[in-house]
Amino acid sequence: MTSSSPDRLIPSRRHFLALLGVGGATTLLAACSTDTTTSTPTPTVDPGGAGFVQPEVLRSSGGRLELTLRAAPTDLPWGDGTRYAFTYNGSSPGPTLHLRPGDQLTIHLENALDADTNLHTHGLRVSPSGNADNIFLRVAPGETQTYVYDIPDNHPSGLFWYHPHSHGTVAEQVAAGLAGAIVVTDAIDDIAEIATSNERVWILSDPPIGTDASILATTRGDRMSGRQGDTILVNGVERPDVDAVVGELERWRFVNASSSRYYRLALDDHPLQMIASDGGRFAAPVKKDELLLAPGERAELLVAPATAGSFALRALRYDRGGMGAMMGGGGNVEPEEVVVATMTVRGDGAGAGLPTALLDAGELVLPEPSATRVLELGMGMAGGGGMSFTIDGKIFDGDRTDITIEAGTVEEWEIRNTSPMDHPLHLHVWAMLPVDDPVGWKDTINVPARESVRVRIAFTEITGRTVYHCHILDHEDMGMMGVIEVNG
Ligand code: C2O
Ligand code: CU
Ligand code: CU
Repeated sequence: MTSSSPDRLIPSRRHFLALLGVGGATTLLAACSTDTTTSTPTPTVDPGGAGFVQPEVLRSSGGRLELTLRAAPTDLPWGDGTRYAFTYNGSSPGPTLHLRPGDQLTIHLENALDADTNLHTHGLRVSPSGNADNIFLRVAPGETQTYVYDIPDNHPSGLFWYHPHSHGTVAEQVAAGLAGAIVVTDAIDDIAEIATSNERVWILSDPPIGTDASILATTRGDRMSGRQGDTILVNGVERPDVDAVVGELERWRFVNASSSRYYRLALDDHPLQMIASDGGRFAAPVKKDELLLAPGERAELLVAPATAGSFALRALRYDRGGMGAMMGGGGNVEPEEVVVATMTVRGDGAGAGLPTALLDAGELVLPEPSATRVLELGMGMAGGGGMSFTIDGKIFDGDRTDITIEAGTVEEWEIRNTSPMDHPLHLHVWAMLPVDDPVGWKDTINVPARESVRVRIAFTEITGRTVYHCHILDHEDMGMMGVIEVNG
């Protein structure tokens, strides 16, 4: 397998200069020498590659946002040539959708792929029925499906995302580039320090890189481990350079849109002040030296650039377990440490102040459960020498309902992972509050190998039938998914 070879993961400086073009390189060098005369920084890394770019933003107005998303294979610019990808409206990631509570979102999904696709709004607390967030709908090649989502008036602000959810091809379609961000804003975004910060959405992906559809090929081993691509991209760009200024707060909103890759992020010489997880605002910033982001998870961070210089945002080594642990050798899924981006800071003086209170802590009180449930994430032997990936010993069957709950019930789930790999469990539509660290609401939670995690879930307001699954999307495609129905 070439996908974890370090020379593909750590691009050379020559490659950055090629990406920049001569003019860009000259500008960067000039910027560095200016910094040197004022504050003699010792840059810890080379300045990065291309500038930090964000996807196009589409905002609701008058309570509505209506758009078309066309899913299609596309040759995207890459270095001196192109790379084959799946895109929404010609770009990967697709547009960022900005909504407010109470809005109605209408999406016309056109399928120009040669396989079924569909659309899921990951984390939005909306109906999973009809033509809303209904992942049982399938859109055949050449067809268009209109989705209509009513965002409740009490929907929390936060970062969510959209991606295909057509069982069997989810990992491939997401890995090939189909994903985009959804931002819900409300009064909480008007807190002075946050409103004036430099807001950036970071969609992290690791697509396979190559010029044609052959890049989509995988081995059974890749799928069992969870496929990982050759190169880490931020909003489709390799190792971008973030321009920051001392005294200006940076607000970084991350989505892990990789099929399988975990990101253990750390920024040189700067603590990360975490203010939200998967669309769940914290009561106050939580200082972290590093942040683990499993597939599907989001995190929102404040960074106060402290001094002029260049600082690497690194994805540190993380061992999420793997087939190697189970079968003896092979299938190592631990990536080397990779520089994901660089932050180039100019200016001097005092650092920016952080906000103190972010949210009424009352919103983070654990509801008392009226029922408890155990979910078991497992792996077993399958026919032909492969492994099966199961929840409660079962492989997904869309015609079977695994969990039935009456609306209004609060449950405590103990999610046990009996396997030698981490699995991030994701529940659609209803948010989960971790019992041991109830710092923010979540919709995707990593359950480390051979460990358990407890969460509480209030099955209030939304009713309908949808799914919970492992967000290592190859595992989901192989059946590590169950069906839940909440009856009103
Ligand atoms: Cu992000 Cu059911 O998925
Ligand atoms: Cu989801
Ligand atoms: Cu899994």
